[in-house]
Amino acid sequence: MGFPTVRMRRLRRTPALRDMTTTVRVHPSNLVYPIFVDENAKAPVPIKSLPGYSRLPLDYVTDDARKTLEQGVKAVLLFGIPSKRDETGSSAFADNGIVQNAIRKLKNEFDDELVVITDVCLCEYTSHGHCGIVKDKEILNDSTLEFLQKMAVSHAEAGADIVAPSSMMDGQVRFIRDALDDSGFSQVGIMAYSAKYASCFYGPFREAAESKPSFGDRKCYQMGYGNSDEALREMELDANEGADILMVKPALPYLDIIQLAKSNFGLPVAAYNVSGEYAMVKAAAQMGWIDEKAAILEMLTGIKRAGADIIITYFAKDVESWLNQL
Ligand code: PBG
Repeated sequence: MGFPTVRMRRLRRTPALRDMTTTVRVHPSNLVYPIFVDENAKAPVPIKSLPGYSRLPLDYVTDDARKTLEQGVKAVLLFGIPSKRDETGSSAFADNGIVQNAIRKLKNEFDDELVVITDVCLCEYTSHGHCGIVKDKEILNDSTLEFLQKMAVSHAEAGADIVAPSSMMDGQVRFIRDALDDSGFSQVGIMAYSAKYASCFYGPFREAAESKPSFGDRKCYQMGYGNSDEALREMELDANEGADILMVKPALPYLDIIQLAKSNFGLPVAAYNVSGEYAMVKAAAQMGWIDEKAAILEMLTGIKRAGADIIITYFAKDVESWLNQL
C-alpha cells in the first residue's frame, strides 16, 4: 500500500498531532552539567573558547549547582583545576583537594537532591598533562591504576555519588570497583568513559582545565576515530568490570557508537556532548549564522534518539526554559 492511500503528512498537519506522535524528547532530568572548580581563582574566570562558561572558585560552586537544580537538571560533573601539579598528580587524591572540597560543599548543601559525579583522571593534576603516570615519555598503564584508585576513593570519602574514570587505562573500572568496595563504598557508582575517542573536539576543555599534554598526544590510550569494533570491546570489558553506566565521548561524530552501546548492553548509556561541540554552536550563533536554541535542541534530541539515556552537556542549564517553546 502506498500513495494516495498512505499519506505521511496526515500526522504532521497540526502542532498537537506532531506533539502526540513525537517519540524522543530531551528532559532536563537526563542532563548532566559540568562544573570546573579552580583552586587558584578568586572570582569566576571566563573560558574564552567556552563562551558563557567560567572556572569557578570553590565558594561559587554551590550557587551554580543551585541554578542548575532550578532548571530541573539534577546532576553535575566536577572537574578540578589544582593550585599544584606534579609528576604523579598527587593533588588529585588529596583529602582537601579542590574537587574533594567541592563535593563536600555540594553534599552539605543539597545532600541527595543533587547527583554529584566526578571525573577520575590525572591530566588536570600532572605537570606533564597526561592522563597517567609517565616514565621515559611512556604513559604507564598498570602504575596509573593505583593512583586512579586513590582518587576515586577520596572522591567517595568526600561524598561523591558516582565516579567517572576517564583516563582510558586498561583495567581502570575493575581496579576502581575493587578499591571502592574494599573501602566500604559499594554504593558508589561508576560511569565509565568506555568509548572515549582521541578527539580534536576536546580543545576548549583543555584550555579550561589547562590539561593539554606537554608532549605527544593521547592517541596511545584514547581510541582512534576510524574504529567501532574497538569501542564495542571497550564497552564490553567495562560492563564486565562492573561499570554501572557506559559513556560514549564525544557525542555528535559518534552517534553510531551511541547506538551500538544502547543496543548491545543492558546498561544506561551516557553521551558526552563535549566542549568543541558546544563551542561550534556558540561560535556560529555569535556570527548570526545559526539559531542557537533550535540547534541545541535538535542536537541534543539527535543524541538521545541515537540511544543516549543521559547527556553530559555544557548546554544543560539553558535547556529547561526553552523546552516548552518547542
Ligand atoms: C579528562 C577529560 C577530558 C575531557 C573530559 N575528561 C579531556 C581529555 O581527555 O583530553 C574532555 C571534555 C570536553 O571536551 O568537554 N581526561
